[in-house]
Amino acid sequence: MAEHIPIGSDHAGFEMKEHLSKVLTTLGYEVEDLGTHSAESTDYADFAHPVAREVSSGDARRGILLCGTGLGMSYAANRWPRVRAAVAWTPEVAKLSREHNDANILVIPARCLSDEEGVRIMETWLNTPFDGGRHERRIAKIERADEGDA
Ligand code: RB5
Repeated sequence: MAEHIPIGSDHAGFEMKEHLSKVLTTLGYEVEDLGTHSAESTDYADFAHPVAREVSSGDARRGILLCGTGLGMSYAANRWPRVRAAVAWTPEVAKLSREHNDANILVIPARCLSDEEGVRIMETWLNTPFDGGRHERRIAKIERADEGDA
C-alpha cells in the first residue's frame, strides 16, 4: 500500500510544495495536500498544525512542511507530542535528520533553495532509515524535558 504523506506550506513555500507534491505522486506516494492552495499571504502555523496532528496521532508516519526559512513551521510542528520536525537545507542534513534524529517531519526552507535542491533533499530524507542504537536513547531524552538533565 502506498505511504500516505501529508504536506503543507504557507505562501512562501507554495510553489515548491506544488512541485514536490507532483514528484511524490510520481514516486508512488499518496499525497494529502493540506494547503495552502495559492500564493496569497497566509500564516505558517495554520498549515503546520494539521500536518503535525496527523504525525502525532499516528495517522501518518511522516509529513512534509515548507515555509520561507523553515523555522516558523518547525517551531509550530515541534510543539506536538512525538513530532520531530527537522529543517533540512542540504541532502546531508536531511540524511542525518533521519539516521540520528528519526525525524518524522521534513521542513524545507523554500526561499533558500531551488526546486531541484528541494527534490534532492526530499528524496534523500524519504529514502534514509533511522540508525537506531545509541540514537534511540538520545531521542527518548527529548521527551523528558521536565526531568531536568534526564
Ligand atoms: C513568510 O514571509 C515567512 O515569514 C515564513 O514563510 C517563514 O519563513 C517563517 O518562519
